[in-house]
Amino acid sequence: MKAIVQDRYGPSDVLRLSEVDAPVPAAGEVLVRVHAASVNARDWHVMRGDPYVARMAFGLGAPKVRVRGTDFAGRVEAVGDGVTRFAPGDEVFGEVDAAFAEYVRVPAAGAVDRKPANLTFEQAAAVPLAGNTALMGLRDAAGVRAGQRVLINGASGGVGTFAVQLAKASGAVVTGVCSTRNVDLVRSLGADRVVDYTREDFTRGGGTYDVVFDLVGNRSLADCRRVLTPTGTLVLSGGGVSGGGSLLGPIGLIARGRLVARFVRQRVLALTAVPCRENLATLRELIESGAVTPVIDRTFPFGEAAEAVRYLEMDHARAKVVITV
Ligand SMILES: NC(=O)c1ccc[n+]([C@@H]2O[C@H](COP(=O)([O-])OP(=O)(O)OC[C@H]3O[C@@H](n4cnc5c(N)ncnc54)[C@H](OP(=O)(O)O)[C@@H]3O)[C@@H](O)[C@H]2O)c1
Repeated sequence: MKAIVQDRYGPSDVLRLSEVDAPVPAAGEVLVRVHAASVNARDWHVMRGDPYVARMAFGLGAPKVRVRGTDFAGRVEAVGDGVTRFAPGDEVFGEVDAAFAEYVRVPAAGAVDRKPANLTFEQAAAVPLAGNTALMGLRDAAGVRAGQRVLINGASGGVGTFAVQLAKASGAVVTGVCSTRNVDLVRSLGADRVVDYTREDFTRGGGTYDVVFDLVGNRSLADCRRVLTPTGTLVLSGGGVSGGGSLLGPIGLIARGRLVARFVRQRVLALTAVPCRENLATLRELIESGAVTPVIDRTFPFGEAAEAVRYLEMDHARAKVVITV
């Protein structure tokens, strides 16, 4: 089959379309014919081996998993022994390593679920990692409740566009922070207030927010905590400058956050989103009910996957970037 592979770390030109062995589903696994995949910040972090410290997990000299990609949507082609949850022909979406490929092999009990009925494959592929991160950040980490004031830094990005809608669906009063060209988009997703960071500094406003969900990592802990109520919650999700070459990247801010959390009344939490089947089902229900809709900036053909990753990394993509396979 064809897949997007890399054999060394580097910028997007290390990615190439190549022939690799097609996966064969083992017992308990499903084989999915991928129709669409989406690009996440995770893909360029792994592609570049950035931050360097993360290479201990990604692979020291080159990525352990040669095929890039995480999010997929497609049709079940075959199932391994013992699989009863899925049958050939089912339309599914999910999260697994090596998704920039014609086929992926996924544990049937893993992060794979029935595709939302009202979405195309392209839209469905945009959901899993970003939607799950937003859900885990707001619901599980921050415990957002109706009436709370929630600020999302990075509201126009892949995770942010889900976070605005999910916070709104929880009944929160939502403020989104983004650049000028994305103000209308973030407002259209339901934000009650939008801060254009090129004109206004969201950290200059007093202790206003019950929850700050930081998806950019460009502000200090003190800055983010300043706008929280005395018992508010700061959720740190990552961030980091594209272009490669950082030692710690967002891990520095997260480590400082963990330390500071021991000494202050406010909650400072570092989010690690873990792929989760139940969360895919929750997202599917929210999407089918109309409460959440994935936003796609651009769709690239499979042969231009490297350009799709470059676009997300370098060009301030708006919401999600999708690859059709
Ligand atoms: N902890 C976890 O488990 C986890 C899981 C998933 C993702 N993440 C991390 O979360 C972060 C967000 O992911 P994503 O997929 O949403 O990334 P993304 O789609 O690339 O979005 C990045 C966002 O950053 C904004 N931005 C860029 N420069 C900015 C600046 N100077 N000030 C304010 N905003 C700025 C962009 O908005 P404009 O274009 O409007 O500037 C955009 O909304 C990434 O760092 C990713 O690695 C963490």
